[in-house]
Amino acid sequence: MSNQTSIQTIEPHGGILINREVSTQQRQHWLETAEALPKVTLNTWSLSDLELIGIGGFSPLTGFMGEKDYLNVIEKVHLDNGLVWSIPITLPVTQTEADALDIGQNIALYGEDNVLYGILELTEKYTYNKEKEARLVYGTTEEAHPGVKKVFEKGDVYLAGPIHLIHRPKHDAFTDFHYDPSETRQLFQDLGWNTVVGFQTRNPVHRAHEYIQKSALEIVDGLLLNPLVGETKSDDIPADVRMESYQVILKNYYPEDRARLVIYPAAMRYAGPREAVLHATVRKNYGCTHFIVGRDHAGVGDYYGTYEAQEFISQFEAELGIQILKFEHAFYCKACGNMATAKTCPHDSSHHLHLSGTKVREKLRNGEPLPKEFSRPEVAEVLIRGLRESK
Ligand code: ADX
Repeated sequence: MSNQTSIQTIEPHGGILINREVSTQQRQHWLETAEALPKVTLNTWSLSDLELIGIGGFSPLTGFMGEKDYLNVIEKVHLDNGLVWSIPITLPVTQTEADALDIGQNIALYGEDNVLYGILELTEKYTYNKEKEARLVYGTTEEAHPGVKKVFEKGDVYLAGPIHLIHRPKHDAFTDFHYDPSETRQLFQDLGWNTVVGFQTRNPVHRAHEYIQKSALEIVDGLLLNPLVGETKSDDIPADVRMESYQVILKNYYPEDRARLVIYPAAMRYAGPREAVLHATVRKNYGCTHFIVGRDHAGVGDYYGTYEAQEFISQFEAELGIQILKFEHAFYCKACGNMATAKTCPHDSSHHLHLSGTKVREKLRNGEPLPKEFSRPEVAEVLIRGLRESK
């Protein structure tokens, strides 16, 4: 028998993989009738949320959250139906925009490029407490936190209701790496992978990333390198440069049949522990059976403790149903002559080179070389060239 019959895929979150994309015929209908509908323009963040709902990455969500779900999520880390969910997925608009819309209407969702991306069946509009959202989701109300800054900048009213995805935002530069959750699930079957570890990143892959990914690969069948390519803060390395760096590292240092590169088209929240849970939930929808949470996952500055995301996600592991692989802070040890963690290295910190995305960015910005203990030379070359060209 082929592998296909023996592969057990993990259930999507909530049991059903959502698909809200319209058929060709429905698309035609909406394109012909949308002119007459009230219009809301989405920014890139909301557009990426619309896409992820539409393609099933955010299963079981079928639309933007109503107030009950919203409050349950921020206060209790669960949807109203009891399913674990950690970050509100909401559609903010200004009070003036909201006032012009009536419950029960279909709303045409356009992008800033004037493309019709979706339809919202408006079931609810509600105001919310920004300070409360910031405190509960991000653990701080400081606007220096990039996620909190967004909370305070956005409109005062949330629109809610089921959506229909009419067009997808373009990811032209990444066409070869664009797979829906239903497609990655099929891909894993075709590759014969029973167990798949998902890896979230918003940074170029440095040696610590490689070390934890490969440690995971010792115990699972395949790696889904799933970099976030939606909105990030301005000093993060641009997605196109990162994508090139992922391709060179995979080509040179990973067995061809053990790893796949697929984009995760979401916006980065920098919500640390809460975002780790969202990241794991979405990767479960993509068909991953395992998910890596390393040190300061989805963190920014000093807002979260090194292992806070690991501790937070531990509470929900059984409910999530995806196995969390927690890795200690990895570094290069000059005395060991290899990558290590406190679990495997007996030497003191004077022998250790600490690696992080922030350090890589700092070095690149200062025009310093990236030592090979830090970054593979092929990756360093892509980053140096990419940043020079993007200046
Ligand atoms: S993140 O914001 O997307 O989490 P990043 O791309 O730096 O940032 O990290 C990707 C994953 O690698 C996260 O799970 C993070 O915890 C982990 N990670 C990054 N650097 C290290 C390190 N030096 N040691 C252990 N885990 C790490």
